[in-house]
Amino acid sequence: MPGKDAAISHRGMRTAVLNVGIRTVLLRRGPSGGIDGVFGAEGCGVRSILKELTARVGEAVARLDPQADPLVRPAADESHGDYQSNCAMSLAKKLGQPPRSVAERIAAALEVSDLCEPPEVAGPGFINFRLKADAMAHRLAEVPPAPAAGEDRVGIAPSDAPEKVVVDLSSPNLAKEMHVGHLRSTVIGDCAARILEFLGHDVIRENHVGDWGTQFGMLVAYLRRTHPDVLNRPDALQIADLEAFYVQAKALFDADATFKRESQEAVVALQQGDTATRRIWEAFCNESLRHCHRILDRLNVRVVDRGESYYNDLMPQVIDALERDGHAVESQGALCVFLEGFKTKEGEPLPLLVRKSDGGFNYATSDLATLVHRIRTLKARRIIYVVGVTQKLHFEMLFAAARKCGIAPPEVRLEHLAFGSMLSRSGAPFKTREGGTIKLKNLLDEAVAAARAVVESASGDEDGDEGAAPMSKRALSREQVEEIAETVGLAALKYYDLSHNLIKDYRFDIEAMTSLEGNTAPYLLYAYARIRAIGRRAGVDFATLSGSSPILLAHPTEQALARRILRLPEVIEQTGAELKPNLLTDYLYDLSKAFSRFYDRRLGVRVYDAPTGELRVSRLRLCDLTARSLKLGLSLLGIRTLEQM
Ligand code: ARG
Repeated sequence: MPGKDAAISHRGMRTAVLNVGIRTVLLRRGPSGGIDGVFGAEGCGVRSILKELTARVGEAVARLDPQADPLVRPAADESHGDYQSNCAMSLAKKLGQPPRSVAERIAAALEVSDLCEPPEVAGPGFINFRLKADAMAHRLAEVPPAPAAGEDRVGIAPSDAPEKVVVDLSSPNLAKEMHVGHLRSTVIGDCAARILEFLGHDVIRENHVGDWGTQFGMLVAYLRRTHPDVLNRPDALQIADLEAFYVQAKALFDADATFKRESQEAVVALQQGDTATRRIWEAFCNESLRHCHRILDRLNVRVVDRGESYYNDLMPQVIDALERDGHAVESQGALCVFLEGFKTKEGEPLPLLVRKSDGGFNYATSDLATLVHRIRTLKARRIIYVVGVTQKLHFEMLFAAARKCGIAPPEVRLEHLAFGSMLSRSGAPFKTREGGTIKLKNLLDEAVAAARAVVESASGDEDGDEGAAPMSKRALSREQVEEIAETVGLAALKYYDLSHNLIKDYRFDIEAMTSLEGNTAPYLLYAYARIRAIGRRAGVDFATLSGSSPILLAHPTEQALARRILRLPEVIEQTGAELKPNLLTDYLYDLSKAFSRFYDRRLGVRVYDAPTGELRVSRLRLCDLTARSLKLGLSLLGIRTLEQM
């Protein structure tokens, strides 16, 4: 009964968490950004068992049908085994034979005895695989120790087919401050980039900011009035509140005809490349980007800034070529690309507009030129747009047009990684009381404040726990509390976001995301710190433990934990392929629950006081592997772990 188990382990975890309390804090910060230090020579470390089983089933099935898909998946229900293949069903249809007998034949032809118990045929023709305990133990023992310096790959080898990938993420409009609507693209895009980087791909993180358009004429004109010095000292420009600046400029624009005219003139000057106007515009964009990067730094997200204006010169060339080649045609004065399958509500053809009737370019033009740059100059083979689902139609049409016009050849993958909105707690759109947008900075502060409260309440508890480090009674300094609160608060926000199904809307719920219980970052961070404390208390140097000390998996909770640890490579791979971060969050939660059961005094095993020295070391190694897996998984979500709490 997994439900009951989970509840018990949950309570166990909670007590443990509160008992551990927060005493000493060591923050270990890795270098910002991706994971360096590639490990994974042939034959080393944890390979994906899923991949291996797929290959084995593939060989067996090929004897019946060389084209058949092995269809191996992790089993949905652990009582049936660890992995399952559904390939017999479709194959049976094709061969005109009963599925169970096809399954029996495949099972008989399978060579998996080094990995699994004899496969079982179940139900209409499923083939179930249960890993052998000694095979799991052997694989775990093979995981190389964590490197002394650099990132720990937990022995996972990078992809043997690295690709150049562009991830288009964050990408706010520079006219205003980043607001809550930019959180998801930033966090999801960073996670996707981190996973693909880890897998060995060459990832370019493009911050496609909106830095062009008529609003910038207004802002330039307003800057001239409010900051007359900007032309002489463009780099010294500081605007404390970009949002207020925009609102003031807009108010003047609406009220003052002279200012309105100045703004319109500035737009023209900007488009014509007037040097002074360009300088002021650039000063504004740079200041706005500094605001963005304060937030991105805080979130530990790296990007390359390349805004819409970067493609200004490329746009007319791309559009001229489309017109010349007949891909784009004029319709009612505008230049359009007609695409198969796109119709208006009335059933009329719905074209992609690439040049307005006044000769101006639009969002689609800029995105087409951007694609040309990404494919021809950056040589991207996979391009992932992390943009809200509200832009679904735009990207469908953009991709169709890029294919039709030959901008995107078939081997280049184009993906819109669409996500739903973050709503307020009541389910209404997320706005200030006055109906304005909420600044992203304020949201981060709110999460950190909530985490601070949680951290402070937990640190009041003084009881020890058999698994916790000897407690120093030293109270935390103000600075330490601040650092933990910042780490835990931002982790909570990110994790909550990533743990939801991307495409659905979700409600911002500060209590739920900062809770120490359930599928949350604080729960996982505490679990991690607690396991580290176990290692410290045991005084074992894991780096020196080699294959000479075996891993022993006799107890069911040891086996269940081993099974989870061994799934890490396949989960990372799958998350990278499907770009669903919640696969990884679900896995990490499941892993830490398995750890709780393993470490639970009643349900699990003794670790410090294990019956033999060999068992003690084996169990401590399982603790260490769990911690390393948690740390790696969290780092791929963009979350830093705390070594000690
Ligand atoms: N700046 C756009 C917005 O705020 C998002 C840009 C997304 N990327 C792209 N290549 N269109 O809606």
